[in-house]
Parts: sequence; C-alpha cells; structure tokens
Amino acid sequence: MAMACCGRSLDSPCTLALLVGFQFAFVLYFSLGGFRGLVSVLVHSVEPEFDYSRPHDVYTNLSHLVAPQLPQTGTGPPGTQAQLKDCQVPSPLLVGPVSVRLSSPLSLEEIRDWNPLVLPGGRYRPPDCEPRHHTAIVVPYRNRQTHLRALLYHLHPFLQRQQIHYSIYIVHQVGRPWGNSTFNRAKLLNVGVREALRDEDWGCIFLHDVDLLPENDHNTYTCHSQFPTHLSVAMDKFRYRLPYPQYFGGVSAVTPQQYIKMNGFPNHYWGWGGEDDDIAARVRLSGMKIVRPPVAIGHYKMIKHKGDRGNEQNPRRFDLLKRTRLNWHSDGLNSLTYELLSKELEPLYTNLTVDIGDDPRLPQRKPIPSMPKHEVKEEELPLVSWSKHRAKRREETPLASKNDVKGEGQVVKMDVVTAVTTAKAEKTDHVQSKSVNQTVEERAGVVK
Ligand SMILES: *[C@@H]1O[C@H](CO)[C@@H](O)[C@H](O)[C@H]1NC(C)=O
Ligand SMILES: *[C@@H]1O[C@H](CO)[C@@H](O)[C@H](O)[C@H]1NC(C)=O
Ligand SMILES: *[C@@H]1O[C@H](CO)[C@@H](O)[C@H](O)[C@H]1NC(C)=O
Ligand SMILES: *[C@@H]1O[C@H](CO)[C@@H](O)[C@H](O)[C@H]1NC(C)=O
Repeated sequence: MAMACCGRSLDSPCTLALLVGFQFAFVLYFSLGGFRGLVSVLVHSVEPEFDYSRPHDVYTNLSHLVAPQLPQTGTGPPGTQAQLKDCQVPSPLLVGPVSVRLSSPLSLEEIRDWNPLVLPGGRYRPPDCEPRHHTAIVVPYRNRQTHLRALLYHLHPFLQRQQIHYSIYIVHQVGRPWGNSTFNRAKLLNVGVREALRDEDWGCIFLHDVDLLPENDHNTYTCHSQFPTHLSVAMDKFRYRLPYPQYFGGVSAVTPQQYIKMNGFPNHYWGWGGEDDDIAARVRLSGMKIVRPPVAIGHYKMIKHKGDRGNEQNPRRFDLLKRTRLNWHSDGLNSLTYELLSKELEPLYTNLTVDIGDDPRLPQRKPIPSMPKHEVKEEELPLVSWSKHRAKRREETPLASKNDVKGEGQVVKMDVVTAVTTAKAEKTDHVQSKSVNQTVEERAGVVK
C-alpha cells in the first residue's frame, strides 16, 4: 500500500525534481554550518574591513573645523547657533584607523594647543553643525598622569572628528589620611555619572578606562537607544578578540535610562577585578542585553603598566559576583554615598575629586574622627519612564531635603533624576570653575 503510494508519487518527474532540489538545499545548508554559518556567509561581505597597517594621524581633518567658525562668530548674534544644520551621519571627517602614541605623551599645554576648540572642562561642540549626540565621558582615575595625557591627546581629536557634543570627566579618588584607600572603579563610575548629569542632560555616558585608546574613529562614542554598549571588543592585550562573551570592561556606554534600570554599578568592589562582570550581570538581571560594534571597528590599544599599589586584586571578587543576583536592587545607584571635595574645570577635562570612603575590610590605622554624616532616608528609586518622571519631579522635589550639607564638604545622597532636574535648573556659566559650596548654594536657591 505504502509502496504503491510512494512509487506512484515518485513516478511524477515534477516531484522527483522537487526532492532532488530539497536534498541539495539541505546539503548546502549543513555544509555551511546551519543557520549561523549561512548568516555569517551573508553578513561577512557586509562586515567592514579596515587596513590597520596604514593608520592616519589622529589629528587628520581637524584643520577644517576652525575655518567655518570664523565668519559665523563675526556675523550675527549668538542666536545664529539655531540655524546650524544637523551634523551629517556618518561624519564626513572620519578616516578609519588612526595611529596611537603610546609613549612620551605631550604636556597638557601642548595638547591644549592642538585642540583650540575644546572649552574649559574638556567640553566640545561642533562649530559648524548641530550635533545629534551628547556624550559624557567618565574616567575613573588615580595617579596615572602620563596615561591621562596620552588619553587626552588622543581622545579629543578622535571625538571632534565624530562631530559629537561631549565632555570629559576625570573622577579622581583621594584617600583619607587615616585610610588605606583601595581603588574602587565601579563606585567612581557611579559618582562620575551622577556628577556629569548635574552639569547637563547627557544622552549617553561613556565609562572609560584611562589606559585604553581607540584605534578606529568609526567606533562612534554614542549610545544604543535600548541596550548598554560595550565598545572595547578588540583590545591588543587580548589579541584583538573578545576575551569572553560577557566581557564588559574597558570602554562601555549606557544612557541615563539604562543606568537607572540597572540601578547603576556596585559600590562594594574594592581593588582590581570583578566589577565589570558585576555590571554585565546587572545588565542581564535588569532585562537588557549587551550590544557591540563589529570586531573590525572596536580596536583599542592598551597602555602597558604594572599593577599599581592600592589596586590589588580583589580577593572577594568571585564571592561578590554570586551575590549580585540577590543585592543588585539594594546596592548601586540608590545606595551611593560620597563626598565631592572639589570640581575644577581644567582646560582639557573636568576634575572631580571625591572621597568615596575606604574598603571596610582593611584595618584602620587611626580611629575615624566622627564624620558629620547624616544619611537621608529616601524613597525607593523609581524605575519608571525617565522623562515623564523628570518633569514631575521638577515641581515637587524639595532639593534641600535631598542634599544634606555639613562640615567641610557635602555628603551626597540623591538620585539621578533629581540631579538632572537640578542641572537643568541651575544651567549657569560652565566656563567658570565653581566650588562645591557655590553649587550647593545655587541649588538651595533654586528651591525657594
Ligand atoms: C579627511 O581625510 C581623509 C584622508 O586624508 C581625506 O581623504 C578626506 O577627504 C578628508 N575629509 C574631509 C571632509 O576633509
Ligand atoms: C594598605 O593595604 C596594603 C595591603 O593590604 C598594606 O600592605 C599596606 O601596608 C596598607 N597601608 C596602609 C597605609 O594601611
Ligand atoms: C584634581 O584636583 C585635585 C584637587 O585639587 C588635585 O589634587 C589633583 O591633582 C587634580 N587631578 C588632576 C588629574 O588634575
Ligand atoms: C563651605 O562653606 C563653609 C561656610 O560657609 C566653609 O566653612 C567651608 O570651608 C566651605 N567648604 C568648601 C568646600 O568650600
């Protein structure tokens, strides 16, 4: 019965051709490694290719920028800014691979001369078009002067060619004289994000190690609208490959909304290692994923150095990671406390000097003088729509109750939403350096 049926259908030349056709398709499909293989074959031709053996100078094309600015400032009132056309995408100034100077960086004065359009605080806005992207670059920092100069020399022209509005923030950790002050990268990043958002309504925040220099200007310093981005996917240190799939260290980026959604970064990673994996875990736990540029674009060179003192490997890092799942809701943005000691607008960067406390595990040499720290109880951080909430908060938040100012500095405990509201309200002259006190007073003034 079955034989007859089969035989009858096989008789038809049409069916035969169809069967052979299917068989051929299957063989082709599996010989290419299934679906992934097929996709990679199709996508491979689209994947960009760059010749890294012949890089351009990192200051290429920047002389063009000065020219169009001159007639513009001469003619008309400042209102002419509004008439600027939107910047082109991609920027016509991009050149692809750029050369990286790893040794003997220039002095800060020389770097400033190379970047005449950069404003105090390390701010920049394209002179000849309206930028589509507003990015704050936050760099955790301690005692790495030569690395910082190499980064500034390299990053300023790199970003100017991308035609974005940006600012570079250095978050400088100072130890207490009686403490051991182990480095805490993630907590410094939390501080940097919060302080940057007080300045301006940045659409994108970059978390940038001081010793990583991007090698391809097509790697744009902008954010993905939905998901956190990891940009340093191909570092020379790891032979230009991702060391492991969940790697999120080096250079990454979040929007303020994404940052709030993942409750910021952990505050308890003292010493080297683990905090980037914790951040990656938070991305997943908060229902997001990590996006990356193609490997051919995400090239970075790392400035070599020995592990520095006060940044010893964190022996608890695996321990802590296990607990992320349990405590990411309670540790992070909503539990951050620190003391902003100063904020200085240097020619090429904003210097945020902060006391983020000490690793509680280390023995304290002297008893801690009673710190005038008054913790303000605040409601749970709202994980709701960013802008809607912001508008609402602007009217009802009594800022004075959020910020408790005591003693020589300020103990800050306030959510980012409030920070942005504040920044908006107090939009004053960025060019002038302000002391912490002034800023706090202005903020108090805004309330009444
Ligand atoms: C930028 O530099 C490259 C390489 O020198 C050049 O080919 C390109 O035309 C320049 N772009 C602009 C807009 O000047
Ligand atoms: C800081 O900690 C390191 C390692 O734990 C130790 O060797 C060093 O003596 C400590 N320094 C101070 C000032 O306590
Ligand atoms: C930042 O400011 C502090 C305090 O004024 C200063 O000690 C430190 O050297 C500055 N750091 C940098 C990198 O400018
Ligand atoms: C802030 O002002 C108070 C009193 O006006 C002063 O004692 C304190 O030193 C100031 N702090 C800073 C960081 O300027």
